Amino acid sequence: MLAAVGLGGVLAGCSTAAVPYAAEENGQVPGSAPGGTGGAQAGAGQAGGAQAGGMGGSGTTATGTVLADAAEIPAGGGVVFAAEKVVVTQPARGTYRAFSAVCTHVGCIVNRVANGTIDCPCHGSEFTITDGAVVTGPASGPLPERRITVTGGKVILA
Ligand code: FES
Repeated sequence: MLAAVGLGGVLAGCSTAAVPYAAEENGQVPGSAPGGTGGAQAGAGQAGGAQAGGMGGSGTTATGTVLADAAEIPAGGGVVFAAEKVVVTQPARGTYRAFSAVCTHVGCIVNRVANGTIDCPCHGSEFTITDGAVVTGPASGPLPERRITVTGGKVILA
């Protein structure tokens, strides 16, 4: 009986001893969490900053892919970013628009912006730089709009 009680006591002692240990460890983690977690966050922040810096170079807070300097998009024209499959236009000075660069005819990538239109090399479809509407077929549907932001002089694809 005594042994059983003692054993129980020992077990209880072990388990209670283990709890404070765990609690202490847990306590240490939160205790040092401001440092540890903060450090991790700072690390993540630095990584994010490095990414933003690498891509944008200006520490912008917006998330997304920096496509170009806004100044690189000609007023009254546009630029095709084939890798991102997006075309960015500036129909009026200071007004930027972006559309999918995938032609709605059979899926070629448009490759040119000229004379107010976004042009597809495959079968000659042309789309307006203002809203992506079809000017010349055979495409029958407009280029879908893509979301961009222009922040800190950078065009950022959302
Ligand atoms: Fe663009 Fe045919 S795929 S015109």
